[in-house]
Amino acid sequence: MYKNNLHKQIVELLQQTPINISKKDSSFFSRFIANATAIEALFKQLYAQNSQYSFYWKELLQSIIHAYTQRPLTLLERDEQKEQPTQWFLSNELVGMSLYVDRFCGNINNLENKLPYFKELGVNVLHLMPIFESPLHESDGGYAVSNFRKIDNRFGTLQDLQKLQNSMQQQQMYLMLDIVLNHTSHQHEWAIKAKKGEKKYQDFYYMFPNRQIPDLFDASMPEIFPESAPGNFTYVTDCNQWVMTVFHQYQWDLNYKNPEVFIAMLENIFFYANLGVDILRIDAPAFIWKEIGTTCQNLPQAHTLLQLIKCCVEVATPGMALLGEAIVAPKKIMQYFGTGLYEAHECDFAYNATQMALQWDALATQDVRVMLAAQEDLVKKPFGTSWITYTRCHDDIGLGYEDNSIRKAGYNPYEHRRYLKNYYSGNTDNSTARGALFSVNPKTQDARISGTLASLCGLEFALAQQNENFIEMAIAKIMMMQAQSFFLGGLPMLFYGDEVGYTNDYSYLNDPTKSYDNRWMHRPIIDWNKNDRKNIPGTIENTIFTQTQKLLQIRKNLPILSDYSNITWLTPHNIHVAGFMRSVGLERIYALFNYSNNAAYLTWYAFKEHGDAPKKLYNYINQQVYTVGADYEYFILPPYGMALLAPWLDVPLN
Ligand code: GLC
Repeated sequence: MYKNNLHKQIVELLQQTPINISKKDSSFFSRFIANATAIEALFKQLYAQNSQYSFYWKELLQSIIHAYTQRPLTLLERDEQKEQPTQWFLSNELVGMSLYVDRFCGNINNLENKLPYFKELGVNVLHLMPIFESPLHESDGGYAVSNFRKIDNRFGTLQDLQKLQNSMQQQQMYLMLDIVLNHTSHQHEWAIKAKKGEKKYQDFYYMFPNRQIPDLFDASMPEIFPESAPGNFTYVTDCNQWVMTVFHQYQWDLNYKNPEVFIAMLENIFFYANLGVDILRIDAPAFIWKEIGTTCQNLPQAHTLLQLIKCCVEVATPGMALLGEAIVAPKKIMQYFGTGLYEAHECDFAYNATQMALQWDALATQDVRVMLAAQEDLVKKPFGTSWITYTRCHDDIGLGYEDNSIRKAGYNPYEHRRYLKNYYSGNTDNSTARGALFSVNPKTQDARISGTLASLCGLEFALAQQNENFIEMAIAKIMMMQAQSFFLGGLPMLFYGDEVGYTNDYSYLNDPTKSYDNRWMHRPIIDWNKNDRKNIPGTIENTIFTQTQKLLQIRKNLPILSDYSNITWLTPHNIHVAGFMRSVGLERIYALFNYSNNAAYLTWYAFKEHGDAPKKLYNYINQQVYTVGADYEYFILPPYGMALLAPWLDVPLN
């Protein structure tokens, strides 16, 4: 809806700037006018009651204008290049890797020298785990930020980052960074001023003089780290107040009911955008709004805030896509893509954490039915948005998918999860997985799972046994898990170290600043002698690296694997085989994954359910052509094997 008064207000503000709305900045101006009504409506929903509403509204408009005027020319050009009929980030040509700069190669400067390594593997999106200033011993892996605009000395400087970003941009690579939106470190200048008693900054957080309100909140708020950081509030002796700390005690939750907090953090978002960030990972967005009597997660106002951020970014820095790191149940995750008028106008990306966890579920049970039951919700993702698909990341694996999916597969949810926890913590006889339980809640027995991809797939165990068959089996599992996330639809995000099979690193136990958090077991320190073995045929590193490389190359050659929300799951013909079809028009391709340690038989009928039955199929994995047989005959997948099959025409069509 167009509003004349908003148009006038914006024009007046722009007249005080060098912006030329009729010439070079005309598309910025069009975007501004097109989004103005939405921005105002969303801002009003959150802050209309604030006594200084008009003041903050003007501040917001000015922040948007300022961000645009600060945008470097190269990024303005890149914004234009990214404008395509379909979103740039849906492309099958993108592949990412998440890494800790210091643990990967020391610092940002060294990372520039590693760009050929990523290229060789086929990675062109780099997610640098938090690099902004964070107290060394209270950092939660960098997710406790004490200065949003200063790179931590450990990693380098802003200039180093800019240099890296420039080289990456020249080499058609993309940069992803985090904005830790929900909280700051207790060492952030706002927190320091709050500790000193400055009311203005105490209002940046949820601070209370006694336990009365904290108790009301605590009554309905779950605990995130029940073992290492129980409760949701911490007593601050300096100012004699209780402050909300949902994560660790040194991470203070920001109070977004205060418009000043919102605007200050939006300006940090713009600062990152203007550094050349292509994908901004919004950390923990499910938590950003709190209300007494609720879980304080996934509240409607959290979505309003995200939609508001999206609209502002669309106006000032449109080339930056937003990834919402909401690790929540399937029905809830859909809402992060936006609903109603805002469908596909909230987060551009979300993690497909449900699919990731369900792949681990299927691997432990050799049964894909729970995975299939959950897809009903996941396939509803709107066109124009995408998933981050992955098997491992720096965090634990949560088993938070719906009980109902487990029941539909015929299992009891409690027993089923107990089995999975035992399986991955190596607590059952039939398990080769070597992981550990993370954040066990003594009250509910809920727990998540830590461990590297390789250790959870049995490589650590196989190496200890020096058993070649087990090693081969573990590698087959690793590749099958990865391949499913490469072909599913979305941007695959590898986790550093997995490309050469790092097993768990237990040295974190000797470091008192890390020993309380077993997620460090799967955050390796890269040993480049080990990684260089990728060049020596016959080594485990070489096998995993080259197979990963090959799978990524296959993905890059097949535009049908772009995320056009074009997935159809095959009806289950065999409980061990997960299968889906990706299609565009009449073109299609089938991906199949065998989660069993035996060969799996799939009736040829599986390929005849959708559209014309193909006569022959070409398998991109082993380059073989198969003749589609009768319904009572079978296509056979090896143990933990996979296939990527496209209809094959002997005679090219005229
Ligand atoms: C996110 C991060 C996690 C961190 C938490 C608190 O979930 O991925 O590592 O502990 O936020 O910032």
